[in-house]
Amino acid sequence: MKDGKFQAGVIGLRMGNSHCIGYRDNPHCEVAAVCDTTPALLEQRKKEYNARLATTNYMDIVNDPDIDIISVASPDYFHAEHCIAALKAGKHVMCEKPMTLTMEQSKGIIAEVEKGKAKFMIGQVCRYAPGFMLAKRLIDDGMIGELYFVESEYAHNYGHARGVGDWRVDARREPMVGGGCHAVDLLRWIAGDAIEVCGFANHKCLKDWPVNDCTIAIIKFPNNVIGKSMTSIGCVRPYTMRSVFYGTQGTIITDNTSPTIQICSNKLMQGKLDWATLPVNIANHNVSAEINEFVDCILNDKPVLTNVYEGAKTVATALAAAKSAALGGQPVKVEDMFK
Ligand SMILES: NC(=O)c1ccc[n+]([C@@H]2O[C@H](COP(=O)([O-])OP(=O)(O)OC[C@H]3O[C@@H](n4cnc5c(N)ncnc54)[C@H](O)[C@@H]3O)[C@@H](O)[C@H]2O)c1
Repeated sequence: MKDGKFQAGVIGLRMGNSHCIGYRDNPHCEVAAVCDTTPALLEQRKKEYNARLATTNYMDIVNDPDIDIISVASPDYFHAEHCIAALKAGKHVMCEKPMTLTMEQSKGIIAEVEKGKAKFMIGQVCRYAPGFMLAKRLIDDGMIGELYFVESEYAHNYGHARGVGDWRVDARREPMVGGGCHAVDLLRWIAGDAIEVCGFANHKCLKDWPVNDCTIAIIKFPNNVIGKSMTSIGCVRPYTMRSVFYGTQGTIITDNTSPTIQICSNKLMQGKLDWATLPVNIANHNVSAEINEFVDCILNDKPVLTNVYEGAKTVATALAAAKSAALGGQPVKVEDMFK
């Protein structure tokens, strides 16, 4: 801390710009260091946030004794390396989703977090999207009775989102892990830890990509809840994460791009089958809310809810779907190695 403020460093400054904004706007923090391998962007962000350190080498931030918190918002396949180095140096780490691309990488981060030197949060930002938060509150309050089916789709055309240097166009990046982890994580947050998955996949849209561009996962959740998640990165439509939650007493339809959610509930409508429309304030990439929560956990030594195990279980569930799809849809148990 310097002058009573946590010194934050951010690695990767495109999505990471939302992290810079979050730290800048948090009264307990300031953006002290920025890192990106694109020099022009690095210079721009250094000026925007008045950062004292700007570097193309993330180890300069990791080795800086004055840095307290590091956001890792580099391309997915760097997350494990960057998080582990930061944790080893005793920095608190906020990692962008997906936490990792493989189970081995997840195990590496978990091992460092378990040494207990610093706090770790995985940025599953949909848990801070107002529509999803309201849906979860209504479900937890029993407004739709007992859940029996949950679905969420991640439909996001990646034809225009290849990443700087085309890093998303990579056979190592399973789309249901990379972007689809948002939808998988949302279902896990609502319905609990996935037990078993059947996956099916095809490749019809982004023919020049080295991965299947549509995957469906049928998921078995605790309490006999069935789930379905779809990831399509070639879809010809605007981005959506349309999600539907069915319970014995009602149904909720929600999205992170719509200013309303819809609910049909025996409790609210005395048995009439109609929709009530509830307004929500759309802030679908509410990284500032995540940062505020993380800083509060650090400041007041509170446990992080969206912790390393949540990140790892979401990756494990998405990987199980891809593995099942490769096996022609055979059921695959979700690896249960996390607390
Ligand atoms: N939460 C969300 O909804 C959300 C949205 C978009 C991206 N993301 C995640 O954020 C991360 C970054 O994605 P993006 O959209 O900003 O990608 P991007 O390709 O737009 O930008 C990546 C940036 O990282 C820089 N970079 C690359 N390698 C680096 C390295 N070794 N060290 C430092 N900087 C490096 C690049 O120069 C570039 O500026 C990814 O993990 C992605 O999955 C999350």
